[in-house]
Amino acid sequence: MGGGSRALTDLLDQAKARPQALDEDARTTLLSLEDPDELAALFAAARELKERYCGRTVALRGIIEAGNVCVKDCRYCGIRRSNANLERYTLTADDIVRLARLDARLGYASLVIQSGEIEGETHTAFIEDVLRRIAPLDLGVTLSLGEQTEETYRRWRQAGAVRYLLRIETSNPDLYARIHPADHDWNRRVACLAALRRCDYQVGTGVMCGLPGQTIRDLARDIGFFAEIDADMIGMGPFIPHPDTPLGDEPMDAKRRLSLGLRMIAVTRLHLHDVNIAAATALQALAPDGREQGVRAGANVVMPNITDTKFRRSYQLYAHKPCLDENAALCRGCLERRLQAIGETIAYGQRGDSLHYRTRAKK
Ligand code: 5AD
Ligand code: FES
Repeated sequence: MGGGSRALTDLLDQAKARPQALDEDARTTLLSLEDPDELAALFAAARELKERYCGRTVALRGIIEAGNVCVKDCRYCGIRRSNANLERYTLTADDIVRLARLDARLGYASLVIQSGEIEGETHTAFIEDVLRRIAPLDLGVTLSLGEQTEETYRRWRQAGAVRYLLRIETSNPDLYARIHPADHDWNRRVACLAALRRCDYQVGTGVMCGLPGQTIRDLARDIGFFAEIDADMIGMGPFIPHPDTPLGDEPMDAKRRLSLGLRMIAVTRLHLHDVNIAAATALQALAPDGREQGVRAGANVVMPNITDTKFRRSYQLYAHKPCLDENAALCRGCLERRLQAIGETIAYGQRGDSLHYRTRAKK
C-alpha cells in the first residue's frame, strides 16, 4: 500500500470517527478520487457508516407524481413552464388517495407526493384535503411541492405531512443564477428551508451534480451547506440533460455523471453520518443498477415510482427516465431482487424516519 493510500485510510478513519470531521479541502480530495481501488475504499467506508446507522436495510417510499403543471422555468427541467412539448396533467384527490392505499398495500409505509410547483389557496387546500384523507393510512408522508409560504407549509404539516424535500439544487448562488431565469431566487429557497425547519418537518434537501460550470469545490461546499442547515434527509442526483430544455445540449457522459453522483453520496454519508440519503432515480437513468450502486456508496432510501404508467411519460424531468412502463407491482419485485443481490433487505412496514431528526428532537 503506497503513502497515498495510507493518507486516504487516515482520512476515512477520521470521517468515520465522528460526524462533520471533514473540512472543505478533505471533502474536495475525496470527491476528486478516480483510482478504482481508492474509490472502492471510499464507498466501503461510506457503506460501513450506512450500516452502523441503518443496518443492512433500505427504506422504500413510493413516489406519486401528482401533476406536471409548473410555474417555474428552471433551465434544466423537462417540465419547465416553457416546454410545450408535453401534455400537462393533474391527478385528482381520489387518484392520489388510491395510490396512497396502493403504497400502504405494497408495505412501503412511507410515500412522497411530488409535483410541479403551484402556489395559491386552491392548491394549498387541495393538498390539505388529500393529506387529511390519507392520514388514516398512517404512512410517513413526504411532500416535494416546491417553494411555498410558511403558512402553507404549516397547514400541510398540521394536515399530516412529516417530511419535506426541497433541493437547494446548488449551494452556489452564482451557479444557481446561471441555471435559472432571473426571477428564481436562491435566497427564497434558503428561506423556505428555514421555514420548513420551524414548522418541524424532517427537512430534506440536495443538489444536482455535474451541472454546467459546477466545480468539485462547489460540491464540497454543497455538503457543507447540508451540514450548516442541519438537514435530515439528502436527495442528490446527477444532472441529466433533457433535450427540450435550454441546457439540453450539454455533453452527456453517463459514466462520469454516475461516478460523480456516487462520490457525492459517499462523501455526504461520511460527513453527515445519520441522515437519510436517497439513491435517486436519476442514477438508474445512467445505469440499470444505478440505485444499487448508490446504496453500495452509502444511500439508505430508494423511491420507486408508483404513479400510474399512463402519466409517467409526461413527468420526465430529465432524459432516459427509467420504469416508464413498469407498474408499481413490477417495480416492487424488481427492487426486491436487486437489493437482495447486494445483500440488503427492504424495511417493509417501517416508516424509516430520519435518525438525525429523531436524535435532534430528543435534545
Ligand atoms: N437532471 C437531473 N435532475 C433534475 N431535476 C430536475 N431536472 C433535472 C435534470 N435535468 C431534479 C431537481 C429537482 C428534482 C425534483 O429533480 O433537482 O429538485
Ligand atoms: Fe421499476 Fe426495476 S424498479 S422495473
